[in-house]
Amino acid sequence: MRRSMWLAPAVAALAAAWIIQAGGQEKPAPPKQEFGYVGSKACMMCHKNPERGDQYNKWLKDPHAKAYQTLAGEQAQKIATEKGLKTPANEAPECVRCHVTAWNAKPELLGKDYAKSEGVGCESCHGPAAQYRMVHQKDAAKAMTLGMIHPDEELCRGCHNEQSPTYKPFDYAKFSAVIAHPDPKKAAKK
Ligand code: HEC
Ligand code: HEC
Ligand code: HEC
Ligand code: HEC
Repeated sequence: MRRSMWLAPAVAALAAAWIIQAGGQEKPAPPKQEFGYVGSKACMMCHKNPERGDQYNKWLKDPHAKAYQTLAGEQAQKIATEKGLKTPANEAPECVRCHVTAWNAKPELLGKDYAKSEGVGCESCHGPAAQYRMVHQKDAAKAMTLGMIHPDEELCRGCHNEQSPTYKPFDYAKFSAVIAHPDPKKAAKK
């Protein structure tokens, strides 16, 4: 009897402390997880099988793979000069930000095979892959917690918008068809 009278306030205090702590935990948001980039070549070994859609070689032929080279061309330089940029187009953040994967990522997030010369690579649309690359083929749900993205129209419009000096009105259905790289085996199952 005596003991429980002593214990009750202690338990109450503990409970209060726990509630304060639990409540407090919600406040400071957990540090935003930042995933590393591995570059498109890291996808090639598994995604160049013609029977599964040959995503790697399709991408190589699509304009995204040349987006960085485009900035070294004459048309790009002309635009940059007209805008009064002080650096060549392929060094100007005003241009590179939409023409290169991970243009603004911290250097420690860029793997040894990452190269900006790849332009808009796989990871621009599917997310930084350092942690999901060897997981997504076994556990799609887990991959989504490790940086994988399911690209949608909004993602495209992050670059396909009027801030592009050469903006062509973006039509999701039409533009997706141009860069499509579906897996024919999956399509057959649907
Ligand atoms: C070790 C082999 C391997 C590597 C490396 C690899 N993948 Fe995959 N990937 C697969 C397999 C296997 C599948 C599943 C195909 C299926 O659904 O049957 C897959 C599926 C996918 C899918 C479809 C997922 C879905 O849920 O529809 C995407 C997108 C993808 N991979 C992107 C990438 C990207 C981007 C890279 C490079 C960063 C990459 N993969 C590297 C083997 C690999
Ligand atoms: C990181 C920025 C970025 C994202 C995200 C992006 N694109 Fe692009 N896209 C570009 C750039 C830059 C070019 C121009 C490449 C070049 O010509 O050098 C381009 C070109 C294209 C072209 C060729 C347009 C033409 O006729 O000139 C198509 C089609 C296209 N993108 C479709 C898409 C679709 C569909 C999505 C979303 C699933 C998407 N893009 C997401 C940057 C992006
Ligand atoms: C907001 C994203 C964005 C920015 C910023 C951007 N671009 Fe682009 N760029 C694109 C997209 C998307 C395309 C594909 C065509 C379109 O819709 O403009 C493209 C295409 C191009 C093309 C090829 C056009 C063609 O008709 O083949 C050139 C050249 C170019 N950009 C140069 C530049 C230069 C130079 C800068 C910097 C002054 C720049 N871009 C900044 C997104 C951007
Ligand atoms: C400009 C954006 C963009 C780029 C760059 C891109 N993809 Fe995709 N990818 C898409 C879209 C959009 C889809 C269809 C939507 C989906 O399945 O989530 C897709 C689908 C896929 C799929 C699933 C195919 C299926 O039928 O299940 C695989 C695998 C894939 N991409 C791999 C790659 C690889 C590997 C690269 C680089 C070599 C790459 N993608 C580059 C936008 C892109």
